[in-house]
Amino acid sequence: MTTVTMTVNGKSVTADVEPNTLLVQFIRENLRLTGTHVGCDTSQCGACTVHVNGSSMKSCTMLAVQADGADVTTIEGLANGDKLHPMQEAFRENHGLQCGFCTPGMIMSAVDLVNRNPNPSEDTIRHELEGNICRCTGYHNIVKSVKAASEKMGG
Ligand code: FES
Ligand code: FES
Repeated sequence: MTTVTMTVNGKSVTADVEPNTLLVQFIRENLRLTGTHVGCDTSQCGACTVHVNGSSMKSCTMLAVQADGADVTTIEGLANGDKLHPMQEAFRENHGLQCGFCTPGMIMSAVDLVNRNPNPSEDTIRHELEGNICRCTGYHNIVKSVKAASEKMGG
């Protein structure tokens, strides 16, 4: 066992983990933050995406020990109290989700994208979200949602 300490959604957390514990396992199983999903075992689907030190990261591709000392944000940390993040609002308003399984990862990737590129074109959004797979929506409304959120986020 190894002790890890990190900040998750603004709170410091410390736990003993096996050296091979994935960050996504740590988030879901130790912290019980189950908004971060596991949709594959090939690092392809993006359902597990969180922010590590402000950048989106597939949390199934990283060990918990590698996040020791990091600042992690999950989908649960995005809203401000009862007020949804503009990206969450935009997905709701533009029908950017159906079953919602991919949505937490899609939203975390999209927030990182808009933080880096406040006014992304449709092509850029499609390109940047290639690492996130949605089995439901056909992507059109996801792209529309990200574009709408970028406008609200000040792009
Ligand atoms: S669960 Fe991480 S990419 Fe699919
Ligand atoms: S909304 Fe169902 S997988 Fe994307």
